[in-house]
Amino acid sequence: MARRRIVLNDPRRFRDPANLTWERYIALQARERERYLAERAAIPREALAYETVSPQYLERAVEQFANNYFPEQSATRYIAVAAAHAPFEELRTCCLFQLADEQRHLEMDREVFERARIPERDWLPAWEQPGTTCRFFRHVLELEDTFEILVKANFVAEGAAGPGTFAVLADGAEARGDLLSAVNHRARVRDETRHISYARALVKALIEDDPGNLDVIQLWQDESLRLFAEVAKGGARREWWEGFLTSYYRIARPLGLRPTQL
Ligand SMILES: [Fe+2]
Ligand SMILES: [Fe+2]
Repeated sequence: MARRRIVLNDPRRFRDPANLTWERYIALQARERERYLAERAAIPREALAYETVSPQYLERAVEQFANNYFPEQSATRYIAVAAAHAPFEELRTCCLFQLADEQRHLEMDREVFERARIPERDWLPAWEQPGTTCRFFRHVLELEDTFEILVKANFVAEGAAGPGTFAVLADGAEARGDLLSAVNHRARVRDETRHISYARALVKALIEDDPGNLDVIQLWQDESLRLFAEVAKGGARREWWEGFLTSYYRIARPLGLRPTQL
């Protein structure tokens, strides 16, 4: 499909809603890391070694671990592309701050696989099976346009899939004795919220700058939702999908967007 590019004629319309400078971001990241390490240090040794979960939990959780790890790995890569092609500086720094966040998330999720002693050869096949987020993220990894990456990955995917589902995942993991995953999800969600808000600010700026941009944003959004629809196929991960759509309406509707081609 031919993709239309959109422009922001007046970049001053976009301001980072978190109002971060490099200095403030580095201080924030250091605080986050400290908090994360303290929470992880409070996890009992047996739980950290995955000795407190049932073998059935681990068998089923491999897919979930892969659905955490590979999206974070993808995010680290696509947000670097978005930063490299960013049309103006304020947006580029938002992408670079996010790059540092995603790299940290990737590290956290790698540690889960390793502590749970899941052989690395099993990681990718778990993500490539039907019903995962793989198709969506592989699509985003092919993109080069900063706006398209941010609308699809931050606004649609993180916006809808992020805060709602991570809270559910954290509680679910904790209830089954997987305390490290619970700590990871709660740490991740604090950053994802920031990634979503700057994408929302961008979408708002693009629409205010030229209402004609709405059509392209709508198209990008529908493409993303279609790729996510595979996740719902055959009833697999149904709960996840329902949570996704509910959050989606909360995030996109106030900006006048709706899924049109599902
Ligand atoms: Fe992340
Ligand atoms: Fe993120």
